[in-house]
Amino acid sequence: MNWQIERDTHNVAWLHLNQAGSGTNVLSQPVLAEFDGILTALRDAPPTALILLSDKPNGFVAGADIRELAALQSPEAARELIARADAILARLEGLGCPTVAMIHGYCLGGGLELALACRYRIGRDDTGTRLGLPEVRLGIHPGLGGSVRLPRLIGSLPALRLMLAGRLVGAREALRLGLVDRIAPERAWRRAALDLALRPPRPHRKPWLDLPRPLRGIAAGYIKRQTAARANPAHYPAPAALIDVWAHEPADLIAALAAEAHSMADLLFTPTARNLMRLFTLEARLKAYAKGSASGVHHVHVIGAGTMGAAIAAWTALRGYTVSLSDQNPAALGRAVREAGELFTAKLRTEVERTAAWDRLIPDAAQAGLGHADLVIEAIVENAEAKRSLFAAVESRLKADAVLASNTSALPLAMIGSALRDPSRLVGMHFFNPVSRVRLIEVVSGEQTREDVHRRALAFVLAIDRLPLPVRSSPGFVVNRCLLPYLMEAVLLESEGIPATLIDHAATAFGMPMGPLALGDLVGLDVCLDVIRELFPARVPARLQALVEAGKKGLKSGEGFYRYRGGRPVRSDSRPESPPADLTDRLVLPMLNEAVAVLSEGLVGDADDIDAGMVFGAGVIPHRGGPMQYLRERGEYDVRQTLERLAAVHGERFAPHPALARSRAVAA
Ligand code: NAI
Repeated sequence: MNWQIERDTHNVAWLHLNQAGSGTNVLSQPVLAEFDGILTALRDAPPTALILLSDKPNGFVAGADIRELAALQSPEAARELIARADAILARLEGLGCPTVAMIHGYCLGGGLELALACRYRIGRDDTGTRLGLPEVRLGIHPGLGGSVRLPRLIGSLPALRLMLAGRLVGAREALRLGLVDRIAPERAWRRAALDLALRPPRPHRKPWLDLPRPLRGIAAGYIKRQTAARANPAHYPAPAALIDVWAHEPADLIAALAAEAHSMADLLFTPTARNLMRLFTLEARLKAYAKGSASGVHHVHVIGAGTMGAAIAAWTALRGYTVSLSDQNPAALGRAVREAGELFTAKLRTEVERTAAWDRLIPDAAQAGLGHADLVIEAIVENAEAKRSLFAAVESRLKADAVLASNTSALPLAMIGSALRDPSRLVGMHFFNPVSRVRLIEVVSGEQTREDVHRRALAFVLAIDRLPLPVRSSPGFVVNRCLLPYLMEAVLLESEGIPATLIDHAATAFGMPMGPLALGDLVGLDVCLDVIRELFPARVPARLQALVEAGKKGLKSGEGFYRYRGGRPVRSDSRPESPPADLTDRLVLPMLNEAVAVLSEGLVGDADDIDAGMVFGAGVIPHRGGPMQYLRERGEYDVRQTLERLAAVHGERFAPHPALARSRAVAA
């Protein structure tokens, strides 16, 4: 039983959704089928009004059941499934009485589409309420009437803006948009819903000044161009398909729903949608690594208030922890506090919340927080000796059960923990830059790291709303190690005379979030050089060394592979050239080869972990499902052969890893 119905003294039916066996409500087939039965019963014994609400603390309905969608075998099967669900929502819409959706927490995708089929929506006015149609993030678009009903409710352009970005809105913005009719704080919310049900106002209408249907076709071209600038339509076809559905929408509701379903069912079977839906499950898997453990962390002390330490401290305070922050340089603390203020202003809604976050972040030059902290995060310079002597100096001041975490981006724990009396409390917590945007954190365990220390670190990462990837300690861990061969090859290509723009373009055309040379400039060529020296000392590109020696360190020094003015690269009008045929393979295959090495060394659990790490940590080819999925798709044997060919032409650095399949049969 997923639904429960109660009738009050006004003959109002309160229909509670509390999906069996799940912490979150999703619109699965059993949930919808049961709902259908209830609608039939309601038609036979009509209530004064129907109020839909969820008994789950985390929200109304979080969306369709992704696993069900992923298991569908053909577009026809998808169309059938959608048509059945559409018919159920149409019956809800056609009930002769007022219908109200009470929305708290997550109301996403199919959940919002269910709410849109109600006559009224009332949002709970608190920070947890999030409404949206984020389907494009899964490579699809709304399929249960969202792209039809939302424009009719709030107007075409606001609706498209929400759906094309997959953006979620809070209760107050939803009210401003007309997406909900009212909002009320929790204590008055039920009463307000009952009021809507018993004294129904005229339903909300979209602004009458909406784009007339005949003009949609013209607007569509413009909107498509704008959307294409944000995501390559060759990799992400859903936004353009959504714009087409809207532009050609029949005026008749039933026909419009059928057209939406048709397009959605086709999208569902694109490789992009398949890959993005798989990543959705990989995200859940990373979260599951932390489930069942408690971090035992209340107070965090961060040492080093540079780029990373400052961001880590601010993020951790934002997420509700007391954080003390120290640095040997007092000026760094001042900067860190200013940057934290910017983060709090951007992320927190009320003055009360911002003040509370400020109160939690304590600049602590004297390191008084060390003795209170349950977790100490080190983020000082990337130098093993500096880290070793810091640990030796602070260890005696730590609480007996405090966890010590290093944010080193490449150094193995054994190397930096050797001066500790108790190295079993040392774990790696490799945050990525920028901390507030990159969701992955590699949680590194060394030979000596205690199991419970690693588990506490995983739990802490989840508690600050990041995704923990457990990895075994080895130079560069997983993400940086796989990225470096790609970066090094880009440098070699550039030194062979291929223009930087051409190299970077090949990478982005393949689906990388930015070109390798632009990335190097952004990170700092000196930093890249240091890490390459650490990880691949025999393969340091001379060109990189020369640039750094000439003071050309990338963006921060005004010049690297590109020259910068006002923080932007100055593009020269170089004549268009055609890239060498093997350019993309030369960039991408070394990354795959390294990923295979990481896997065969057992640094992560399996290939899925690598994909999760590369996608959530570095944005590497999400539409292809990450590097290992791409390898599977292209075929190990094909990749091995191509690497062998590249090795014959360009050198041994392309030698395929022995674990790559030697024949098609093995690959299959
Ligand atoms: P940074 O140079 O911006 O900051 C280092 C800070 O540590 C400086 O403020 C310095 O005054 C302070 N410091 C140095 N020695 C100290 C000591 N003994 N006691 C107290 N404070 C000390 O460096 P950044 O970029 O923040 O890197 C820090 C760590 O994070 C490094 O291990 C780096 O490899 C790692 N990391 C860096 C990333 C990046 O993108 N910058 C990404 C992920 C990890």
